[in-house]
Amino acid sequence: MADLRAFENTLIYGCDYNPEQWPESVWQEDMALMKRAGVNLVSIAIFGWARLEPEEGVYEFAWLDRIMDMLHQHGIKANLATATASPPAWFALKYPESLPVDKNGVRLGVGSRQQYSPASPIYREKASQLVRQLALRYKNHSALAMWHINNEYGCHIFESFSEETVCAFRNWLHHKYATLDALNEAWGTAFWSQTYYEWAEIQAPAAMPTFYNPSQYLDWRRFSSDMLQECMQMEVDLLREITPEVPVTTNYIGINKHLDQWKMSEIEDVVSIDIYPDPASPSAAIECAAQGDVARSLKQNQPWILMEQAPNQVQWRTLNHTKRPGQMRLWSYQLLARGARGIMYFQWRQSKAGAEKYHSGMVPHDGTDSRTWREIETLGNELKRLPDFCNDPVKAEVAIVLDWNSWWGLEQGSHPHADLNLMELVAQFYAPLHQQNITVQFVRPSDDLSKYRLVCIPNLYLVKEEDARNIETYVQNGGRVVMSYFSGIVNEHDHVYLGGYPAPFRKMLGLKVEEWLALSKEEKRPLENGWSAEQWIDVIRLEGAQAVTSHTADYYAGLPAITTHAFGAGRADYLGVKLPVEQMGLYLKTVLDELQIQPALQVPAGIEVVSRETTVFVLNHHPQTMTIDLPEHKKDLLSGKDVAGQVELPAYGVLILQ
Ligand code: GAL
Repeated sequence: MADLRAFENTLIYGCDYNPEQWPESVWQEDMALMKRAGVNLVSIAIFGWARLEPEEGVYEFAWLDRIMDMLHQHGIKANLATATASPPAWFALKYPESLPVDKNGVRLGVGSRQQYSPASPIYREKASQLVRQLALRYKNHSALAMWHINNEYGCHIFESFSEETVCAFRNWLHHKYATLDALNEAWGTAFWSQTYYEWAEIQAPAAMPTFYNPSQYLDWRRFSSDMLQECMQMEVDLLREITPEVPVTTNYIGINKHLDQWKMSEIEDVVSIDIYPDPASPSAAIECAAQGDVARSLKQNQPWILMEQAPNQVQWRTLNHTKRPGQMRLWSYQLLARGARGIMYFQWRQSKAGAEKYHSGMVPHDGTDSRTWREIETLGNELKRLPDFCNDPVKAEVAIVLDWNSWWGLEQGSHPHADLNLMELVAQFYAPLHQQNITVQFVRPSDDLSKYRLVCIPNLYLVKEEDARNIETYVQNGGRVVMSYFSGIVNEHDHVYLGGYPAPFRKMLGLKVEEWLALSKEEKRPLENGWSAEQWIDVIRLEGAQAVTSHTADYYAGLPAITTHAFGAGRADYLGVKLPVEQMGLYLKTVLDELQIQPALQVPAGIEVVSRETTVFVLNHHPQTMTIDLPEHKKDLLSGKDVAGQVELPAYGVLILQ
């Protein structure tokens, strides 16, 4: 696989650069300012298709040649985009069949971006012609360091109900099931008279009178994710043929439900992700950390790139809060701590026109005489001075299972509780672990789990039989699992595992769930020791497990809410309720203590600690100075000074201890 050779001993610092929005007279100044800020990589031509191919088959590369040359002259590398993210207006008008169609049959128009159906054959054909042209033109250009494929696949258009897409869905199903009998069986179409006798009868799950067939919906999610992946694969194949040495990446929009990022990441060389915390959100730091951990996990700890973050404010929320002085730097280090090889921004120069003109840029409307610029310039120069810590692995002893198929299965209608949201349920585990400064690795249910001391399994609603066995074997061999309710309920076709819930995990958990209760947002039900249950209650019968805490009211009083079961050489815990997050923290703390899993440093709340093999990052998320106690002498890579004892960390301050 190609790698980021150009950045072997350097941290990446850069941005989306859209010179096509500016007269060429500005470009020289851009180069000079980029040098001042320490920019060493820019993503260019992401939305350049209309400029690169003003009419069908007529390519204009002169402007991009000039920019590529200028970048090279200034020692800045190009993360050259394949420009396929936003087809030109002429394309959409000439090939209207390529336009996305929404659930209600409305064809979406031009004048925005991402207006194509991922399955559209003509989109793929024209996109591949453009990619080939770009690759041939720039394959030997010294500025080329990486290919930026498309942009945020599935960010706006993750499914389309166009005629062509429905045809592609049928082909995909045909390939998967071979016979209609197999499809009818997998989709359980005996229900509600849904049996199909011809492939042509099959539709996409668009607007319907009531609940759609859940097995069909699952396949639709898989198919829609595969269509995006096929677009990516098509570009990857072309680029690998023409420039085998140049790494390829695509930037994810955070953790995207609509795209199986485990599968997608297998076909790229470098993972990159865009992270936009809401500065007003009390959980901003946790969300940033979780996204960084997912990014690191997708390619099993390979360094990844923060491809976009906002230099300051965004423009797409209802209320767009500014980052407070120091916050942008803090969040940048937070992601470097979690394995990022570099920090990039959207975008270089704040646009003066278009839908993003109020989105901050590294060079704001008022130029360099601004707080944003000063923070950008200072950080860039600080990173230049730092030793490269990218090959120092991030340490994680705790894993959280994340699976896209189960996510799609869980968040369907016609379930006992309509408000089960996987990311909230993951946060039930992630947030308290983050507060206790325990670094998490995300894993698939099929992964080798033996490296982890603790594996948390939030609501793995859908599980394949062999993945359930993988988890069971991990426990059998001495692992520790904490699993939460509504896990192990259905197989990959969304068919219930019969024989008592959760059938594939009953032996491991030593229990049976007899029935479940759905609670409203306001409801809480009492447990022992003043604890309480929210959202969901499993009525549990023990079959070898022990109760950790039990219900104290209603007809299930005395029955366990949380259980633990010694199984083989390991132990499996089960949460048959949702605990308020503080109680979840206390509960997880007892498990961590039992396993003697500890953070690298004991620090006050709101100070984040991330440890790598030889460095420890300490990040102050408070808007005021905090004091921490460092038991041993360490060198702070940022200040170059030795620190020990009572150390003051300024508001949003950072230490990198070695
Ligand atoms: C990203 C996108 C960028 C820009 C940015 C604004 O989702 O990739 O092109 O729109 O958001 O925050």
